[in-house]
Amino acid sequence: MDLRCLLKEIATFAVNLTILATCVAGHAKPGCQSKCGNLSIPYPFGTGNGCNISINFFITCNTTFNPPKAFLTTGDLEVLYISLDGYLRIQTAAGYDCYNSSGRSSYQIRGIRLAKFPISHTKNKFTAIGCDTYAYVQGSLGHTYSTGCLTFCYNTSDGINGSCSGIGCCQTVIPKGVRGYSVRLSSSYNHSYVLDFNPCSYGFVVEDGAYNFSVSHLADNSFSNKTFPIILDWTIGNQTCKEAKMHPLNYACKENSACIDAENGPGYLCKCVYGFQGNPYLLHGCQDINECDKLKPCSGTCHNTPGSYYCSCPEGFEGDGWKNGTGCRPKVVTQSQSFPVLVVALGVSLLSSLLFSSWVYLGLKQRKLTKLKQQNFQQNGGTLLREQLSKREECGETAKIFTAEELKNATNNYHDSRIVGRGGQGTVYKGILSDGRSVAIKKSIIGDQN
Ligand SMILES: *[C@@H]1O[C@H](CO)[C@@H](O)[C@H](O)[C@H]1NC(C)=O
Ligand SMILES: *[C@@H]1O[C@H](CO)[C@@H](O)[C@H](O)[C@H]1NC(C)=O
Ligand SMILES: *[C@@H]1O[C@H](CO)[C@@H](O)[C@H](O)[C@H]1NC(C)=O
Ligand SMILES: *[C@@H]1O[C@H](CO)[C@@H](O)[C@H](O)[C@H]1NC(C)=O
Ligand SMILES: *[C@@H]1O[C@H](CO)[C@@H](O)[C@H](O)[C@H]1NC(C)=O
Ligand SMILES: *[C@@H]1O[C@H](CO)[C@@H](O)[C@H](O)[C@H]1NC(C)=O
Ligand SMILES: *[C@@H]1O[C@H](CO)[C@@H](O)[C@H](O)[C@H]1NC(C)=O
Ligand SMILES: *[C@@H]1O[C@H](CO)[C@@H](O)[C@H](O)[C@H]1NC(C)=O
Ligand SMILES: *[C@@H]1O[C@H](CO)[C@@H](O)[C@H](O)[C@H]1NC(C)=O
Ligand SMILES: *[C@@H]1O[C@H](CO)[C@@H](O)[C@H](O)[C@H]1NC(C)=O
Ligand SMILES: *[C@@H]1O[C@H](CO)[C@@H](O)[C@H](O)[C@H]1NC(C)=O
Repeated sequence: MDLRCLLKEIATFAVNLTILATCVAGHAKPGCQSKCGNLSIPYPFGTGNGCNISINFFITCNTTFNPPKAFLTTGDLEVLYISLDGYLRIQTAAGYDCYNSSGRSSYQIRGIRLAKFPISHTKNKFTAIGCDTYAYVQGSLGHTYSTGCLTFCYNTSDGINGSCSGIGCCQTVIPKGVRGYSVRLSSSYNHSYVLDFNPCSYGFVVEDGAYNFSVSHLADNSFSNKTFPIILDWTIGNQTCKEAKMHPLNYACKENSACIDAENGPGYLCKCVYGFQGNPYLLHGCQDINECDKLKPCSGTCHNTPGSYYCSCPEGFEGDGWKNGTGCRPKVVTQSQSFPVLVVALGVSLLSSLLFSSWVYLGLKQRKLTKLKQQNFQQNGGTLLREQLSKREECGETAKIFTAEELKNATNNYHDSRIVGRGGQGTVYKGILSDGRSVAIKKSIIGDQN
């Protein structure tokens, strides 16, 4: 986290947390330009040497424009927004087909061709407007695909504002997995019957919801100059999570993040695990969310832990400490607690002899427990394991034996919320070590020799 972010975080502490979220989400690789104009460029994207994860993630920032404009790789597709959730918004123009009384007056095919990123089939729609219009969207899916829609009308008053259902405007979905398309248009009668209110047909791919049809667009001849946003899906590499994890050097998901197989085409994405936020592609990118500050869930004392949090009550109070639970209330002094006071009244000698015997009893119990633990450690091969490990340490290959206390802390005292699975011989918990690493901890059922 750079100083700017830190300052923002301190400021947000007093104001609100949305600023912090955008601050973390916009992270570029350290030492790299994080913005082009007002576009945030988060890693794996980058502009400049060593700032992008691979050639497809390069952003050209052209400063001859004011404000500067960002382009995908070294091409001419302008980038409007990059989301770490695996999509980016680019900008393209509409294809058009215009007529006057002597026939076709202008015609423009439009399309894009992408090296790697597919056009989102869920977040875009192919859209055409016109009253004498056949619109096709074509491209390559290994083999050629072609789809489209048609729209006809005989009077402007037939069209319905806000409705793209085939009268003046039509829409269809884009096939899954396509990395390019071109838009083609044609007409039945050269617009000759509709020329006075609709001289042109237009076709464009647009982000779902970003275009709203209005009847007035049928006569609008400025559409040939308009641009429309399109969503592309981006993924890392061309392997599945399983394959990528086998090559740790190239694996893009850093600590406290999980891998997700891409839905549209090959490759994978990374996501911070629950309780963390930030950029999962950067070292230390996924930062713990301080739920205590963000949610203020406790009426008692709030304890933020890596990836989680819990509530407790201060000394002298009882309850679970949660705002939605029992909260905290002063401890009621009960009969048994006032007992020692009575004892004092009965006599100091009785009290001291009671204290002494309980001290002896507790001491014996403690010693017995320690001995039992040692015995179990030996019985279960602990001594042997320790010997083996010390031998391996010499070759630089090590593992670690954790104390029961460390495991207890890592699992928030084997809290139910940390359970990830139950088996015949024990329960598996999600643990977070003091250095922030996530681990699985299996606790055997007490007394099960297996
Ligand atoms: C970036 O600037 C454009 C206009 O220059 C504006 O429409 C857009 O909302 C801005 N984006 C952000 C994220 O501020
Ligand atoms: C980043 O993009 C540039 C320009 O396309 C390319 O030369 C470079 O190899 C890319 N970086 C990596 C790590 O692939
Ligand atoms: C920036 O854009 C201008 C105008 O389109 C173009 O002439 C120039 O070559 C571009 N520069 C870069 C570095 O792409
Ligand atoms: C129709 O458009 C063409 C090409 O733009 C132009 O040459 C022609 O003069 C136009 N005809 C009329 C009648 O406007
Ligand atoms: C279009 O519809 C309106 C109202 O329904 C009507 O007055 C007008 O004559 C129609 N125009 C044509 C060219 O049919
Ligand atoms: C449709 O919207 C346009 C402007 O956006 C307006 O002029 C027109 O009256 C509207 N038509 C209907 C039928 O609502
Ligand atoms: C689309 O336009 C209509 C009227 O022209 C309006 O009522 C509606 O809210 C608009 N929808 C969006 C998503 O902008
Ligand atoms: C449409 O115009 C073209 C020339 O631009 C012409 O060859 C064709 O016959 C016309 N079709 C109709 C149905 O008018
Ligand atoms: C489209 O843009 C060009 C140049 O950018 C301009 O000359 C032309 O008049 C514009 N057309 C319309 C219909 O706005
Ligand atoms: C996957 O990507 C690597 C490197 O980017 C490339 O060498 C390989 O040919 C690709 N494999 C497939 C099946 O596209
Ligand atoms: C209180 O809220 C927390 C977090 O929202 C939740 O995990 C917990 O189960 C809730 N407890 C009760 C008793 O509703």
